[in-house]
Amino acid sequence: MTIRVTGTGSALPEKIVTNFELQKLVETSDEWIRERTGIAERRISTGETVSSLSAEACIKALEMAGRQPEEVDLILVATCSPELLLPCCACQVQDRIGAVKAVAFDVNAACSGFLFALNTAYAYLQTGIYQNALIVGSEVLSKLVDWTDRGTCVLFGDGAGAAFVEASVDDIVCENGRRAGMECMVQGSDGAKGMVLSCEERPVKNAFISEDIMQNPYIQMDGQEVYKFATRQVPACIHDALAKANLTVEDVDLFILHQANVRIIESVAKRLKADISKFPMNLDKIGNMSSATVPVLLDELNRSGKIKKGDRLVLSGFGAGLTYGASILVWGV
Ligand code: UT7
Repeated sequence: MTIRVTGTGSALPEKIVTNFELQKLVETSDEWIRERTGIAERRISTGETVSSLSAEACIKALEMAGRQPEEVDLILVATCSPELLLPCCACQVQDRIGAVKAVAFDVNAACSGFLFALNTAYAYLQTGIYQNALIVGSEVLSKLVDWTDRGTCVLFGDGAGAAFVEASVDDIVCENGRRAGMECMVQGSDGAKGMVLSCEERPVKNAFISEDIMQNPYIQMDGQEVYKFATRQVPACIHDALAKANLTVEDVDLFILHQANVRIIESVAKRLKADISKFPMNLDKIGNMSSATVPVLLDELNRSGKIKKGDRLVLSGFGAGLTYGASILVWGV
């Protein structure tokens, strides 16, 4: 038994914010942002929410899979920027799309969230508990960003991506002899380094505490530490996943990585000794959307016909937690 992705979808806010517009907010330049990150513009919410973007992406994924919302067993939304603490975003999505019989809950592993949700669904489907799942990565990070901090505000964007996955009992052998479906996954967490990329929730404040507690409600990041972590950990976990599946870098057609920084992706390609042409990127147009980057890129490649049946994909991400992971799958639709 394995799982196959049978539909993908994505949704982005309408508003485009270019680097030139950010020059008006903070001391930065289009040149600096492009050179250091590869980002030229990003989408920023002017009202779209994590649940509205998620629902739009889910509907598109279900349409592609040829499934109705009432057929969905499980909805997992990976997000670190929901509009409500309660109820969870996945329950909002269930209601918005009318997936009446689905079990729904959120997963927060920041930028690795979509991968962690995919792996959670894999476990549920493999054990036969559920037959299918909608997996979503969705963020409105613009509300968590300090728009006076040039070290972070230039990096992030808003958006959502979704994948519909189904348990696959039958062996689907592709023309190239590969068996379609998930082949293996690895994931990891390093909580001890968590504060290098953090964002505070409400501080402890109740009827029994009188003093005012100061807090910084925005994303705080030690960019260089995150950079070092990503360039070391991502290639290491991809190697682990390949070794687990008895594969080599040459067996992979596309590496769909978390879109945080073009330099991180280039460094990962170099460390893996893999051709950079196997690392598609879209961060120039949409920036870093945390958990949404991998599913949005997956959807873009899928809809533009750049992923073919039998292609072996490595999906890999890293982010706050710190968390990281890699999943290997052979495309089967
Ligand atoms: O999903 C995970 C999210 N996080 C990441 O992926 C972050 C990973 N880290 C990075 O991508 C990079 O570390 C950054 C893009 C955040 C920063 O690039 P860097 O090459 O590591 O720059 P830096 O932090 O070493 O800063 C170099 C200089 C500093 O000025 P001084 O001290 O040399 O005078 C910064 O103050 O660049 C300055 N700087 C900027 N200048 C213009 C920082 N941000 C900006 C900016 N525009 N937006």
